[in-house]
Amino acid sequence: MTDTPLRLRTLADLRAVLGEHRRAGRRIGFVPTMGALHDGHVSLVEQARAASDVTVASIFVNPTQFAPGEDLDTYPRTEEADITRLAAVGTDIVYLPTVEEMYPSGSVTNVRVEEMSDLLDGIHRPHFFYGVATVVARLFVHVQPDVSVFGEKDYQQLQIIRRMVRDLGFPIEVIGGTTVRDADGLAQSSRNTYLQAEERLKANTMSSALHRAASRISIGVPVDDALGEARVRIEAAGFDRLDYVSAVDPDSLQDLPDGPIASGFVGRVLAAAWMGKTRLIDNMGFKRA
Ligand code: PAF
Repeated sequence: MTDTPLRLRTLADLRAVLGEHRRAGRRIGFVPTMGALHDGHVSLVEQARAASDVTVASIFVNPTQFAPGEDLDTYPRTEEADITRLAAVGTDIVYLPTVEEMYPSGSVTNVRVEEMSDLLDGIHRPHFFYGVATVVARLFVHVQPDVSVFGEKDYQQLQIIRRMVRDLGFPIEVIGGTTVRDADGLAQSSRNTYLQAEERLKANTMSSALHRAASRISIGVPVDDALGEARVRIEAAGFDRLDYVSAVDPDSLQDLPDGPIASGFVGRVLAAAWMGKTRLIDNMGFKRA
């Protein structure tokens, strides 16, 4: 609607502005972010814009999804550059709540999406999805969007949000945004800025290994063979620690059994590994021919 986004920092201001849009019958689209925006975020905002009349993006580095010792203090904070990017893509409102606004003092209400949060990344970052579900539920209550867009890059997060929306009955359409990749295949992520030059050169091995595993499973190679080769490739490329390489059911996120999978089955391969001090995740879909 506008060229310059309105910056709002309090729930009261957000409610007042969005209330008017809602009364005018406008559809509200929402992209939650932690800032440090890249082209992947821009494409999520473009999708939200296409699906709504008023586009809201939030920037909030959510403390509850970081464990002690993780990068909460050093997470890149680039508010002015982020707002310039959001303006360029036609965002109407940027919501910039404080920690107190999101977590009023004495607040003890949290959201846990059981089972799906304890797999894959949840094994290695047990706090993570509880923090994500809690903040996204709170943001949904603040913004009350009609539609919200989350990147497929964080596939487990996307599926957990979908499940939360279904379980709690939020009247929100959740759209998954396609992963935006650099020319060599590396999935764009705010944490890619942590990579040293020589690490960056090797980092795309994860996406190429996943791509090959997805292609091999889709032509009938047994799941364990395809994943085993991906593991070897990622480790040989100089990743320091491989947290997991898995092939899963795309909805339940449960591991697929070993062996060739049934014709027509649609699944997902996912991986997480450390390159120096940077933890990278990626995933790809496949369909068995
Ligand atoms: O994907 C992210 O940037 C965050 O996990 C989210 C969804 C904004 C919640 O803090």
